Amino acid sequence: MKRDFIDLWNLDPDEGWQIVRRTKEIKEKRGEVSGVLKGKNFALLFTKPSTRTRVSFEVAIRDMGGSSLFLQESQLQISRGEDVKDTARTLSRYVDGVIVRNHSHVWLEEFARWSGVPTINALTDKSHPCQILSDVFTLYEKYGEDTKRIKIAYVGDGNNVCNTWLVGAGLFGLNLFVATPEEHTPDSYYLQAGLDLCGFTGGNIYLTTNPTEAVKEADVVYTDVWVSMGDKNEEKKEALKAFQVNEKLLSHAKPEVIVMHCLPAKKGEEITEDIFERYADIIFTQAENRLHSQKALLEFLYEEK
Ligand code: CP
Ligand code: NVA
Repeated sequence: MKRDFIDLWNLDPDEGWQIVRRTKEIKEKRGEVSGVLKGKNFALLFTKPSTRTRVSFEVAIRDMGGSSLFLQESQLQISRGEDVKDTARTLSRYVDGVIVRNHSHVWLEEFARWSGVPTINALTDKSHPCQILSDVFTLYEKYGEDTKRIKIAYVGDGNNVCNTWLVGAGLFGLNLFVATPEEHTPDSYYLQAGLDLCGFTGGNIYLTTNPTEAVKEADVVYTDVWVSMGDKNEEKKEALKAFQVNEKLLSHAKPEVIVMHCLPAKKGEEITEDIFERYADIIFTQAENRLHSQKALLEFLYEEK
């Protein structure tokens, strides 16, 4: 049966940790990845820009012996009104998997329903599961089994990345504090999914509108852009000003705190340039880890079960 990866809840906690641990092996033995993608073709169907997700998937697929085609909406018949189900039914007759970056999450779910091959979510307006799967690996790489004990604070807009962190905290049993303005809280569906999973894994999710409270004694402070791709609400920046990751906010965290960012960053908005540069090593390790974790994800989705 085909295995989609639309949201983190498509994995159970054991599978999530299996992928994280496998990522460590893949990263340590660069190049020694399984041959499950040999001879397989993938389409990357992107209707939004991407640097990291596109390149890391294309390189991962190539390293694993597969091939990829990069497809942009403007060059496909979707741009002339061909519907999602016909696009999905057509593409899945040619390729072995479709990696989709699209604004509408509902469109992606519809695509997956009609596709005969696995669909992987490469970001929608609601979620970015490949990012958080990889970020949990970045934490695991640094904190090992303590990953479940550290305090993680997400500060900023309650966007797709924030939604996915809620599910990630639930799936991996993490201790997550989220600070967003009252009018920009994350999606309640993702919050509930995260809380439900916490019931099984012992994770903890705490929401606040006070960034200092979230960051207090935190081991990890994570942020993302205030205005995501496709979001037209530039005015929300005013409400987000108090959520900037800067020297003052970080002074409430543990002295050994690390700062993470999924990138791309808008320096001077959600993070100051000096804080970004201080933690650039971990931030670009995060970016690098997308490559390793997506290899582990692809291996998981395509290995014979
Ligand atoms: N973090 C991330 O998904 O980056 P891109 O938008 O460059 O793919
Ligand atoms: N929230 C951001 C994440 C980019 C990787 C966006 O959707 O634009």
